[in-house]
Amino acid sequence: MALIARARMRRDHSDMTIAGTYAEFGTREAHGVSPMYERLSLAVSRDDEVLTLLGRLPTAKRQPNLLFAVVRLLGGPVEDPAAFHAYTVANWPAIEAEMRVRATQTNEAGRCAVLLPVLALLPQPLALLEVGASAGLCLYPDRYGYRYGEHLVGSGEPVLECVATGVTPPARVPEVVWRAGLDLNPLDVTDPADVAWLDALIWPEHAHRRARLKAAAALAAADSPLLVRGDLVDDLLALAAKAPDDATLVVFHTSVMYQVPAPRRKAFAELVRTLPGHWIANEAPPMLPYDTLPKPLSDAHHNVLALDGRPLAWTRGHGQAISWFA
Ligand SMILES: C[S@@+](CC[C@H](N)C(=O)[O-])C[C@H]1O[C@@H](n2cnc3c(N)ncnc32)[C@H](O)[C@@H]1O
Repeated sequence: MALIARARMRRDHSDMTIAGTYAEFGTREAHGVSPMYERLSLAVSRDDEVLTLLGRLPTAKRQPNLLFAVVRLLGGPVEDPAAFHAYTVANWPAIEAEMRVRATQTNEAGRCAVLLPVLALLPQPLALLEVGASAGLCLYPDRYGYRYGEHLVGSGEPVLECVATGVTPPARVPEVVWRAGLDLNPLDVTDPADVAWLDALIWPEHAHRRARLKAAAALAAADSPLLVRGDLVDDLLALAAKAPDDATLVVFHTSVMYQVPAPRRKAFAELVRTLPGHWIANEAPPMLPYDTLPKPLSDAHHNVLALDGRPLAWTRGHGQAISWFA
C-alpha cells in the first residue's frame, strides 16, 4: 500500500482515521463556531501530504486544535487552506517539534458560566479544586460577571455570556474561600510565552475570547491561584488535603478527560468519590460513563455537565450555552 494511502487509513485513539478526525472536527466542533477552522480541517481531511506528516506523530499529538494552534504560534496562515498547506509542508520540522512538546491547554474562563448554576446549588462557602486547570482561569467563578440573556449575575470583569435553557440562573455568584488547580503542565499568566500559547489556542475569529483571556489573565495575575504540577489521579488526594475543613470541597474539571486514557479516567472517577464534598464534571459524553443521557440536541459537539456522577445538562464547548435536562 502506498505511504500516503497508509497515512490516510491510520487510525487515531478513537479508532477513527486521521482524515476522519479532521472531518469530524470540522463538521461537529468548528461548524457554526469558526468558519476558518471548519474550512481548514475539512481541507486537511482531504490533504494526503499533510495527513502523511501527521501520521508520523504519536496518536495524541495529531489533533486539529494542536496543529492549527502551533501554526498560528509560529506565525503561519490559517485563513486560506492553500496557504496553510504550503506553510505546513515547508515548515514541518518546526511544526512537528512544537506539536511533540505541547498539548492543547486552552483555558476558557467562559466555561464558568455553565458551572455557575451547579456551584450555586452547593452549600456555601466553597473550596474549589480544579483538575486539568491549565492556567487556572476557571478557578474564579466568583470574580467574573455573567449575562444569561437579560439576567445579569455578579459585577466583575470579564462578563461571560451564556444562553441558558431550562434553568434559572443563580441570583448571585458563589462564595469561594479557597482555590487550587492541578495540572500536568500548569501555565503561568505572568509569563508572556505561556500567554502567547494560550492566545494561539483561541480560534482565529474569536476576538471576544481573546479579550476575555486578557481580562481573566489580569485578574489571575493580581491574585495568583495555587497551581500544582501533578496528575489528576496520583496527586489529587494530597492537594485535596490542603482544602479548609469549614468549606464545601468541590473537585471539578472541564474539557480535560479527552486527554486522559480510559483506565486513568476510571481510576479518577473512583478516587474522587472517596473525597468529601462534591464533584462536577463538564466533559464530552463518551469520556465518563452515564447510565442514560437524553437525545443530543444536534450534531454539534456538546459536553455533559454532571454533579456527583449525575448528568444534568448539555453545554457547548466554550461555555456559550447550557441546556438543562428536562
Ligand atoms: C483543554 S485544557 C482545559 C483547561 C481548563 N479545564 C479549561 O476548561 O479551561 C486540559 C488541561 O488538562 C491537563 N491535563 C491533561 N491530563 C492531565 C492529567 N492526567 N492530570 C492533570 N492535568 C491533566 C492539560 O495539561 C491541560 O492543561
